[in-house]
Amino acid sequence: MEYINNELCLGPLKKPLAPLCANYMRPIYVYDLDFVTQRFQAMAKALKGVRLFYAMKANPNAEVLQRLKTLGSGADVVSLGEIKRALESGFSVQDIVYSGVGKTVHEINEALRLGIYQINVESLPELERIGKLALEAGKKAQVALRLNPDVDIKTHPYIATGLKDNKFGMELSLIPDLKKCLKNYSASIELVGISLHLGSQMLEFTGYQEALQKLKPVFKDLQKEFATLKRFDFGGGLGIFYDRLDLELEESLLQEYAKITLDTLSDLDCELQSEPGRWLLGHCGVLITQVQYIKKTSAKTFVIVDAGMNHLIRPSLYEADHMILPLGKSLENMKADIVGPICESSDFFAKDRSLGSVKEGDFVAVMDSGAYGYSMASVYNLQELPLEICI
Ligand code: LLP
Repeated sequence: MEYINNELCLGPLKKPLAPLCANYMRPIYVYDLDFVTQRFQAMAKALKGVRLFYAMKANPNAEVLQRLKTLGSGADVVSLGEIKRALESGFSVQDIVYSGVGKTVHEINEALRLGIYQINVESLPELERIGKLALEAGKKAQVALRLNPDVDIKTHPYIATGLKDNKFGMELSLIPDLKKCLKNYSASIELVGISLHLGSQMLEFTGYQEALQKLKPVFKDLQKEFATLKRFDFGGGLGIFYDRLDLELEESLLQEYAKITLDTLSDLDCELQSEPGRWLLGHCGVLITQVQYIKKTSAKTFVIVDAGMNHLIRPSLYEADHMILPLGKSLENMKADIVGPICESSDFFAKDRSLGSVKEGDFVAVMDSGAYGYSMASVYNLQELPLEICI
């Protein structure tokens, strides 16, 4: 992101954003596919030998998916809807890892019918359900056990998933019961992997390393009894910076993450898999919105834009600190709350933020909105969904 001739540009090829607003009708998510390519290739290089399954919940846009498929990515999905979108976008069933704590009977039956590459199981009752349904269907489910190592990765509580208070994964004390169940259903379940995912927006790796170390002996122990166990899926979660653009520091965090992962797991006899989402897409998208009013009160200045928390919920939900930049560079500064049209005081993008001086009709970009932006959008207040454009 940088200004060229006072115009805000996106991505490695510095594509100007203003021309996209020529026929502006409502807020637009813009994704730069060359940037996606660059991010994927950087991660694939750092995590050499690891099979990447893009966590498509971050951004299930079909063109984004097609680009990632072309680059060699698989897809990490969490619903039948995502399975369908992945297949429509060119992924094969052999490219799909299916996670999620709440898989319904219908979803599992469909996954079995399709022959999904790997189902990440999150509870004992789910394992039993899969065993039973696969038996009835005469199928052999390819299953990974998602384990919960109870570690803290120091992220926002709403996106932490690897603590014992979280609904995700299975406690290590459950292993004997899991083994028993796997043996009961040996005709219909094949244990192919173990998986973990500790949460999202991870920017330091002490808890992550601790988790890998906890799970290694578990993997080895399971492998002695289940010769089919051959994959270690270490999840996603690598974070990005929202309050600044520092791709060099992010690259060094990526290197640190890769080194910890590869060094810690190098002596396991298995294939390695990962499920990155945010790191691949976060920086590659922006939300463009138009200033409607500048409203001054005795307490504050509000810049009221036409996008709201329904279009990008991250600031309201996780207090995420996205940069907001005018599409046309401005030399002056003003301090304001940038808010949307939704009828709630939680509808804000930033508070007391220094922003280039903007006026009615100007466009601003909410930066780093390529992940968990459109995918979490809603029609609250019967606002229309934003548009999406890939460049
Ligand atoms: N694998 C599993 C099983 C997951 O649940 C997730 C994300 C990922 C991989 C990808 O994690 P990532 O690499 O993107 O951190 N809406 C929140 C983030 C929720 C993440 C949910 N799970 C946000 O906007 O910050």
